[in-house]
Formats: sequence, structure tokens, C-alpha cells
Amino acid sequence: MELFTAIQQRRAVKHFDTNAAMEPQHFTQMMEAVLLSPTSYNIQHWRFVRISDVGMREQVKQAAWGQAQVSEAAELIILCADTQAWANSPERYWSAVDAKTQSLLVGMLGNFYQGKVELQRDEAMRSCGMAAQTLMLAAKGLGYDSCPMIGFDAEQLAELIKLPSDHVIGMIIAVGKAAKPAGIRGGQLGLSDVLMVNSFR
Ligand SMILES: Cc1cc2nc3c(=O)[nH]c(=O)nc-3n(C[C@H](O)[C@H](O)[C@H](O)COP(=O)(O)O)c2cc1C
Repeated sequence: MELFTAIQQRRAVKHFDTNAAMEPQHFTQMMEAVLLSPTSYNIQHWRFVRISDVGMREQVKQAAWGQAQVSEAAELIILCADTQAWANSPERYWSAVDAKTQSLLVGMLGNFYQGKVELQRDEAMRSCGMAAQTLMLAAKGLGYDSCPMIGFDAEQLAELIKLPSDHVIGMIIAVGKAAKPAGIRGGQLGLSDVLMVNSFR
């Protein structure tokens, strides 16, 4: 599918066909595309929890206020991120470059994030957002629909998936074939409402 078609056709779908599985090779292709998303200093904070167990799905559904997408979707992925990824063996983010460049970048990223707790969390969430959009567009490109979700009890979900204390949950994404098309768009702001030139005023 052409990129702009995928962007236009991606919608948050609320009901999925429970008989339509995602082809295993499509799942891999989608997730491998996600890994090419950009992250600051190439830190790749994201960690993904694929909920394949039916019992777990039901528990996640309860934590997500009973939203149907959670149990109906072919795939359910919880996008998490390691807020400490910047400090956790950072040389692996630059393993393919020469030693001098690697050491320079690892030093730079350490200085950038050291001691800045809020920035560490912001960065982890930014990386989740990058991954999320790639995932949904890749799904669309492969002929699937998706729904990003933040409607859940974060503490309950963290406990269910045994989220490490230095990780955060960005969102859940349900992926599958739509059983019902998405409703009309809610009402998009115009470019003139959101695009400033040079400064806010
Ligand atoms: C971070 C985020 C969280 C969302 N959480 C939910 C959710 O919990 N349940 C739901 O049905 N839709 C959820 N949505 C879908 C939005 O309502 C939807 O993206 C928005 O209305 C725009 O519609 P569209 O994606 O079809 O263009 C979420 C979207 C985002 C980006």
C-alpha cells in the first residue's frame, strides 16, 4: 500500500473480526519495521509485550475497562519502555560504528540524560510514540487495522505483565481485521489552527 494511502486509511478500529488471525510472517514484518523507528541517540527504549494467552487477554481487558478490542483483536501488544535504557549498556546502540565514534556518542548520551529523571521518562515515552505510529502504519500497509489505547488502569496492567519498576507503559495497540469500520473522524483541526511560523506570537 502506498504510504499516504496507509496514513489516510489508518483509523482507530473498535471491533475486530475474532476469526481473522494475523499471519505470523506479517507479525514479524510489522515488528521488524517498528525496530527501524527513530529514537534519540538510537537508544531504542521500547520493550513490547505480546499478549497471546487467552486468560491474560481477559485480565488485560478487565484492566482496560472491558474494551472489546482487547479480546477481539488478532494481536495485542503492550508498548513499554525502559527509562534507564540510556544507562544500560549504551555501547550496543552504536555497535556498528567505529570505536572512536561509538565512545563519543556513548559519552554524549550519558551526559545528556544523567540525573534528568523527567527527561529520561519523556524520552522513553517519545520512543513509544515513534514505535506506535510505525506499528499502526505497518499494520495498515499489510492489510490490517489497529487501535491505540490508553484507556486502562496502568497500575493493574503493570502488575499483570510484571513491568520492571524502571519501565513505563506507553500504550496498548490492538491489531487485526476490522469487523466494523471506524466511525466518522471526530473533527480534525485545520493546519492554520496548529501550524505556527517561527514562534507562537
Ligand atoms: C494515545 C492514544 C490512546 C487512545 N486510547 C484509546 C482507548 O483507550 N480506546 C479507544 O477506543 N480509542 C483510543 N484511542 C483512539 C482515539 O480515540 C483515536 O485515535 C482518535 O479519536 C482519532 O481517530 P482515528 O485514529 O480513527 O483517526 C487512543 C488514541 C491514542 C493516540
